[in-house]
Amino acid sequence: MTAFDSLFPDETTPSLLGRALRHLTPSYRPAPLVLARGQGCEVFDRDGTRYLDMVGGIAVNSLGHAHPRLVAAIAAQAAQLIHVSNLYLNEPSIALADKLSALTGFDRCFFGNSGAEANEAALKVARRYQTVVRGAPNKIGILSFDNSFHGRTVGALSVTGQPKYHQGFEPLLPGPHFVPFGDLAAVDQALGAAAATSTPIGTIIVEPIQCEGGINMPPPGFLEGLRERADAHDLVLIFDEVQTGVGRTGRWFCFEHHGLRPDVLTTAKGIAGGVPLGVMMTTDRIAEALQPGTHASTFGANPLATRAALEVLRVIEDDGLLVQAHAHGEHLHAALRALAARHPDKVTDVRGRGLIQGLDLASADLATRIVDGARAHGLLLNAVHGTTLRFVPPLIVSIAELDAAVAIVGTLLDLS
Ligand SMILES: Cc1ncc(COP(=O)(O)O)c(C=O)c1O
Repeated sequence: MTAFDSLFPDETTPSLLGRALRHLTPSYRPAPLVLARGQGCEVFDRDGTRYLDMVGGIAVNSLGHAHPRLVAAIAAQAAQLIHVSNLYLNEPSIALADKLSALTGFDRCFFGNSGAEANEAALKVARRYQTVVRGAPNKIGILSFDNSFHGRTVGALSVTGQPKYHQGFEPLLPGPHFVPFGDLAAVDQALGAAAATSTPIGTIIVEPIQCEGGINMPPPGFLEGLRERADAHDLVLIFDEVQTGVGRTGRWFCFEHHGLRPDVLTTAKGIAGGVPLGVMMTTDRIAEALQPGTHASTFGANPLATRAALEVLRVIEDDGLLVQAHAHGEHLHAALRALAARHPDKVTDVRGRGLIQGLDLASADLATRIVDGARAHGLLLNAVHGTTLRFVPPLIVSIAELDAAVAIVGTLLDLS
């Protein structure tokens, strides 16, 4: 393992935390750790303390930390060409677009730098498709869902169904209608009500599993029902797979579990193993709306990020990580269910698919105590939506590592 080469060799960690608090915006509430290096599913802080990582950079480090093939691919690409702009082509972005098309069946890719940016591209292409391809410029309504999360840019935030994130930023974009996740009757009601106005709904955006909203699974038939309604009313159906994509649920993308295909697919997080990259994929017909000059991103499609993503996809294929994510996810789910059975008063539910699993606890206070206690026991975990402990380890995680993580949570539940 590479030794840690500190930028602050003479400074203590508390002093470094003080520096961070002084100079970074107060928009995050980081744990009091400064992480320095990682290997596989373990990370180490600058003082050498080891942590088992069930956060994986929030479902980003799909190959874990310092995966030799990803490190080699990034280093080789950095030595060759990091950035050229979209005024010119580069080989890694062409190879990645080719590969993603082969894996998903989508014709076209737009590359940006984050999940929010992928969703911005999706919302823009949907709007422009309705306007310039379908000749329906008034179809500006967007159907989204309570408890959804699509990112922090103004467009993505506007379709995020969690009012706490909107506070202080209103007015946001006009157009979104929010209905309960899983409720097709409410979908029909919203579509009907908007159809009677001057701005009908033209787009639906949905996460096939709500992630930040608490690892909420769609009820059977719900996503299929959205597909039917999108077909019936000529709506653009966007699946936000920023968190569920790239093998996390045991398939390349979660939509594959449902025997359907959205019109637009977004992904980011795990695709380049930690190098920033967001992707919006769509069909030839919808992509036609994006003629030259209609959308762009300076860093998008840069050879460093796209080469990293290509290597992540190749390793997932070569090492059978889709099958493994499914099998290890089943094991984790069963282990969490056993914990729930042991603590019926403290654990209220277990939800998830593959290597995205949530353990729902009886209170937000308990969730905070478990997250803090886990850290003290050398385990990184976080809670979403207040009460749900989220497990999104690297796809390379072993059964022994999952068992070790569940054992620590079990001990903490016994003690609390
Ligand atoms: C489903 C989903 N969409 C979008 C985003 C936003 O991604 P980013 O933070 O890369 O902009 C997230 C981030 O958590 C997410 O989970």
